Amino acid sequence: MTGFDERIEAAVRALPSPSSAWIYDPSALVDRLASLREALAGHTILYAMKACANPAVLAAAARRADGIECASGGELAAATAAGAARLAFSGPAKTPGDLAAAAASDVPLLVHAESERELAGLAAAGFAGPVALRVNRGRALPGTHQMTGAPTPFGIDAAAAADAADLALSLGLHVVGFHLHAVSNCLDAAAYVAHVRDSVAWAHGAAEGRFPLRYVNVGGGLGADPRGDVIDVGALAAGLRGLDTGGAELVFEPGRYLAAAAGWYVAEVVDVKTVQGRAFAIVRGGTHHFRLPAAWGYSHPFRVVPGPREDRVWTDVDVRVCGELCTPRDVLNGGGRVPSIAVGDRLVFANAGAYGWEISHDRFLGHPGPELVVLG
Ligand SMILES: Cc1ncc(COP(=O)(O)O)c(C=O)c1O
Repeated sequence: MTGFDERIEAAVRALPSPSSAWIYDPSALVDRLASLREALAGHTILYAMKACANPAVLAAAARRADGIECASGGELAAATAAGAARLAFSGPAKTPGDLAAAAASDVPLLVHAESERELAGLAAAGFAGPVALRVNRGRALPGTHQMTGAPTPFGIDAAAAADAADLALSLGLHVVGFHLHAVSNCLDAAAYVAHVRDSVAWAHGAAEGRFPLRYVNVGGGLGADPRGDVIDVGALAAGLRGLDTGGAELVFEPGRYLAAAAGWYVAEVVDVKTVQGRAFAIVRGGTHHFRLPAAWGYSHPFRVVPGPREDRVWTDVDVRVCGELCTPRDVLNGGGRVPSIAVGDRLVFANAGAYGWEISHDRFLGHPGPELVVLG
C-alpha cells in the first residue's frame, strides 16, 4: 500500500479510542499539484473542491492552484473565505440566490451555465462577469461517472449549444467559451488527450461567427483510483505538447487527482467474529464516514496498525471489514487476508482523500462523527 509513513502511523496511534478519523496532509495535494503544473505548463488549473473541502486542504489549493471550481453557494462562500484568487461556478441546479451571490462576488468569478433557463437567471441577477456554456458533447471517456457523451442532467445538449450561445449573447451576457467536463477517474492518458484536443477544436467551431473564443474548460476527471492507480501525467504532457489553443485559455479542473493522496481514513476494530463461515472485523465508523467503497462497490485496501491487543488475536485470516451501521452494505473491504487482527487495532485506508468524507451520510443512526486531523 502506498501513502503510509511514520508520520501517518504516529497520527493513527495518537487518536483517542475507539477511533474513527480522517487524517489529512495538505502537502500531498501540494505535491500532486506541482507535478500537474509541470505537465500542463502554460495552462490553467482550478481545484474542484467537491473532491475534498477540508479547510486546510482547500487553503493549500487556494494558495497554489490558479483558482477554485465550486458547485454550490456553500462552496463559493468556503472558497472565498479560503482566499481563492479566482472562482468558477458550476452545478446544474443553481438557485436565484446562488446567481445573486455569483453576481455579488468580490473575487473574479466565471459561471459555467448549465441550461438556457440558467442563462435567463444570470441576466436577471445582473451577472456581468464571464460566462462559459457547459455542453454535453462528444463520446463518453473511459472512467467512472460519464457526464458527457451519455444522457445526463449536466449542461446543454450539443445540438442546442449554438442557440444557447445566441440566447446568452442576446441577453447581454459576456460569453467567453465552453465548459466540457466529461468524466471522473479517467486512467487512460491517450483518451484524455484526445478529449482535450477534440474539445478545443469543437469549441472553436461552435464559437465561430458568434463570439471570440477565450476559454475552453475541459473539466476534471484525471484519474487517481482509490485502489492506487493514477493517470500517467507524463503521457498527458507529451500528448498535449504543441497543442494550439488559438489564443483561448485552456483550463483543467481536477479534484480527485489532487486530493486522493491527501486523505487517510482510520477505523478501530471493536469486534472480530465468524458468522456462517466468514470472518468479520467490525469497526467504529464505517461507510457513513467513508462512503466511497460502498458507493462504488469496491474493496478499499487497508493496513493494520496493531493496537493494545487485550483480546484474542486472529492470525492469517480473510476478514470482511464492516462498519457500525445496521445494514449489510456497510462494508469497507469485502475480504482481505491479513497476517493478524484483533480488537483495538486501527485499520488505515490510504488514497481516500477524494470523495471520502465529502460524500458520506453521517446522520444515519446518530453515531458520533469522525475526528478530523490535519498534519502540519
Ligand atoms: C463540473 C465538474 N468539474 C470537475 C469535477 C472534478 O472531477 P474529478 O474529481 O474527477 O477530477 C467534477 C466532478 O464531478 C465536476 O462535476
